[in-house]
Amino acid sequence: MRKIVLAALAVLAFSGTAVAQNYPSRPITIIVPFSAGGPSDVMARVLAERMKTTLGETVLVENVTGAGGSIGVGRALRSPPDGYTISFGHLGTHVANGAIYNKLGYDLVTDLEPVVLLPSNPMVLVSKNDVPAKSLKELMDWLKARPEPATAGTAGAGSGSHIAALYFESISGIKLQYVPYRGTGPAMNDLVAGQIDIIVDQLSNSITQVRAGNIRAYAVTDSKRASSASDIPTTDEAGLPGFLMTLWSGMWVPRDTPKEIVAKLNAAAVDALNDPAVRKQLENLGLQMPPKDKLSPQALGEWQKAEIAKWWPIIKAANVKVD
Ligand code: MLT
Repeated sequence: MRKIVLAALAVLAFSGTAVAQNYPSRPITIIVPFSAGGPSDVMARVLAERMKTTLGETVLVENVTGAGGSIGVGRALRSPPDGYTISFGHLGTHVANGAIYNKLGYDLVTDLEPVVLLPSNPMVLVSKNDVPAKSLKELMDWLKARPEPATAGTAGAGSGSHIAALYFESISGIKLQYVPYRGTGPAMNDLVAGQIDIIVDQLSNSITQVRAGNIRAYAVTDSKRASSASDIPTTDEAGLPGFLMTLWSGMWVPRDTPKEIVAKLNAAAVDALNDPAVRKQLENLGLQMPPKDKLSPQALGEWQKAEIAKWWPIIKAANVKVD
């Protein structure tokens, strides 16, 4: 009996290793939980294009949207733990949603295996061009003077643009009327068209429209100006000290994905982040590369836990709950 058990274990270990050795042998899919054309989608596609070189296999991007990104994350983590489905996400989807959704149906820490921390960017307060304000102070005066709350586009409850707007409300005391979209890509289209008033958006999503003069930017939520948008003041400079927020992204796979496969995916993502052409493309959008000593799967796991400890009390204090 003992011999049979040992033989079975040996077969299991061998097959796990064999699977990892032959990985990848077919296309890999990155599930982006927000709409195509938005900041998460753009970053995922840039990285996917370069990761396929290291992995020697096609890396596809699939947009599975809704509920502040929680639907796409759920789809990814319920996939087989074989390395062929990657969950792309960020501070919103892999931290905030755990405090906001009563019925998330999964655990953001124990049901996922961290792969790699990805670039981050500050948020930026932007408005449609019709808003009669040229500075953050004038914008806040306009927002306060309105008979009804201004409309703020978000990518749904728990998304980066939602928790950033919540944070703005809590620091400024200004109430907003949220207009949820399936991503800040479509929200941006409506802001440019003047259908909504403001977005507290990722800089990487707004920067192109700001440069084109199609929307107006007031401040970035960072202690220093973004080198790719040095004309936009910081919230401190613009008169809203303490409104600081950086939205970081990452990649995860389903729990129980073999460590060797996680290591291969991590190596491919790190290769992409070290590629000068990829860096130039992402930094031009205002994205900041993660520190070199934070690129291991373990580093993302530790960072995610630290961010959960920081943000859950803030979100719970704001009493934002979604059933
Ligand atoms: C997106 O790609 O649409 C964003 O990441 C959404 C958000 O979290 O604001």
